[in-house]
Amino acid sequence: MTPLLARVCRREPVGRTPVWLMRQAGRYLPEYRAVRQKLSLLEICARPDVTAEVTLQPIRRFDFDAAIIFADILLPLVPMGAELRFARDEGPVIDNAITCAADIDRLRAIVPAESLAPTLSALRLVRTALSPDTALIGFAGAPFTLASYLIEGGSSRRFTLTKSFMYNEPAAFDRLMQKLARVTAEYLVAQIRAGADVVQVFDSWVGWLGPDDYARFVKPHMPAIFDAVRAAGAPAIHFGVGTPGLLEGMRDAGGDVIGLDWRCSLDEGWRRVGPDRGVQGNLDPVVLLAPHDEITRRTRDILHRAAGRPGHIFNLGHGILPETPLEAVQTLVGSVREYSPR
Ligand code: CP3
Repeated sequence: MTPLLARVCRREPVGRTPVWLMRQAGRYLPEYRAVRQKLSLLEICARPDVTAEVTLQPIRRFDFDAAIIFADILLPLVPMGAELRFARDEGPVIDNAITCAADIDRLRAIVPAESLAPTLSALRLVRTALSPDTALIGFAGAPFTLASYLIEGGSSRRFTLTKSFMYNEPAAFDRLMQKLARVTAEYLVAQIRAGADVVQVFDSWVGWLGPDDYARFVKPHMPAIFDAVRAAGAPAIHFGVGTPGLLEGMRDAGGDVIGLDWRCSLDEGWRRVGPDRGVQGNLDPVVLLAPHDEITRRTRDILHRAAGRPGHIFNLGHGILPETPLEAVQTLVGSVREYSPR
């Protein structure tokens, strides 16, 4: 049986709109916080049994249409040589950030099936535990977003170091993108072999580039990733934040479904993506902090804009905020189920 969400990625007509949330296995859940009191993020990711448990927590509570494997886009950078840690309140930190071309040549090539074995084992466990109609989503970071962490040494506001490296050392930047694209493609294929029904490519920060820089520095690296995923037999969701200026470019770069954030309305975004692709989105995560009738109203509006066309996956435009009340998520899921076209 092909899970509902995987059928929607292929734009098959289905009975209702699937819904899941980015970072649904995260800090807004008390049962996740309880696990995190005992184990760090990296310790969870090293233990397939705990990874599987945390992945399943939001499914048990909300019956989402997809489980996303618990991992982090930055994990593959560790076997490549990055000294990654998650600092309290700072987010991810890479202590040996890339500053020159030689640093890029020092990054190791990896075999994801070996280096990322715990995540792959967890995918097998989760696929066995899930109901056949619930999709299992595998994921990886896209080369630009991964490069930004390697060059900035962590999260960034303006991506000054990344973009200035790109402008000043275009050949070295290109080699970095190539190395990362290869890891991303191989890792996604390994996840599909381990049981992922769908994969999502997170190019979270690519929206900080203008369309010409996207076309020159990013786009050439993307088709190989989506081709490899297609050959492995799973559909792909291509996600970014702040991308209204890049939607056509991202569509041409690849993906069966294009992620939309809340900065453009869903119907306008879908018009620009075109009718031969699906879209995912696009509720503003902050709306989950609004009164319940407002959550319902906004949810209905998005469903109305999708107008029952095959290929819509309901999601937030970015990850759920840690301060989100559980009842708001219940209201959202209930509204999608109640008002999605049959
Ligand atoms: O349900 C899920 O989505 C969980 C799996 C998941 C995590 N990270 C676990 C995690 C996924 C899909 C990611 C992807 C990820 N990681 C992205 C792309 C998605 C996006 O938000 O745009 C990015 C940019 C990262 C890098 C990263 N990891 C950052 C910036 C942070 C700190 C920010 C924060 O919210 O604190 C992390 C830590 C992280 N990865 C958490 C989780 C649940 C935070 C909670 C914790 O420390 O337990």
